[in-house]
Amino acid sequence: MDNEQVRAEALRALRRSVADYIGFLAASGVRAVARPSPSGPAAPAGRAAPAPLPSIAADSGGLSTPPADEGLPLTLEEVSRELGDCTRCKLHAGRTHIVFGEGNPKAEILFIGEGPGEEEDKQARPFVGRAGKLLTDIIQKGMKLRREDVYIANIVKCRPPGNRDPEKDEIAACQPFLMKQIRAIGPKVIVTLGRPATSLLLGRSVQITRLRGQWQEFYGIPLMPTYHPAFVLRQYTPKNRGDVWEDMRKVLEKIGKPH
Ligand code: URA
Repeated sequence: MDNEQVRAEALRALRRSVADYIGFLAASGVRAVARPSPSGPAAPAGRAAPAPLPSIAADSGGLSTPPADEGLPLTLEEVSRELGDCTRCKLHAGRTHIVFGEGNPKAEILFIGEGPGEEEDKQARPFVGRAGKLLTDIIQKGMKLRREDVYIANIVKCRPPGNRDPEKDEIAACQPFLMKQIRAIGPKVIVTLGRPATSLLLGRSVQITRLRGQWQEFYGIPLMPTYHPAFVLRQYTPKNRGDVWEDMRKVLEKIGKPH
């Protein structure tokens, strides 16, 4: 073997051991590893490392480049503190309360909706109006979980006036906080409710009727797109209800709690 061949063999061996090590980490439940930062502090042992943040497609209302956020995951309390009494977008002007999200901070399932409605704005809690009652029924009566076992969040945390769709700049202003919430929780599965949430997380404009029920991935986290409960209420057909139930059965199977 000449020097070139020795170097090539050494490189192949190195690649194999890196691949084995990544396989080992994955099998141990590690989903992401912190990139060493020349300036930042070393990650303390035992703390989950952050996943890279996604690039959000412009047509989904988000950012075209990933926000620079390579630090350790914050806790939900830290994310909430960072959000503060937010005035980063125009939605703050009409809100009564910020609706940060609620549930188990280490939930296996994270539901992501669009934005608070009137009742949510009043109570500072996500999904407590009519659509919320349906979501709660899906979780409790259908999936046989407690609402407190899952986490429920939205892509914007302040109510859009008259329940209009959130606009691109509003979604972009809120998006870093949703990403930090996802990293804080580290869910096994994300369920996106409706088109805006699905498009935002997948970074492309989707048709929810086409995509629902098909597993997607958000930086290594399985993502199940399904209908928004408000849509199901508007078109309360056995087919739509059955579709959502089928999607939730897949979610339960994925977290090892088949129905
Ligand atoms: N619809 C949403 O998308 N989110 C809520 O919190 C309530 C209704």
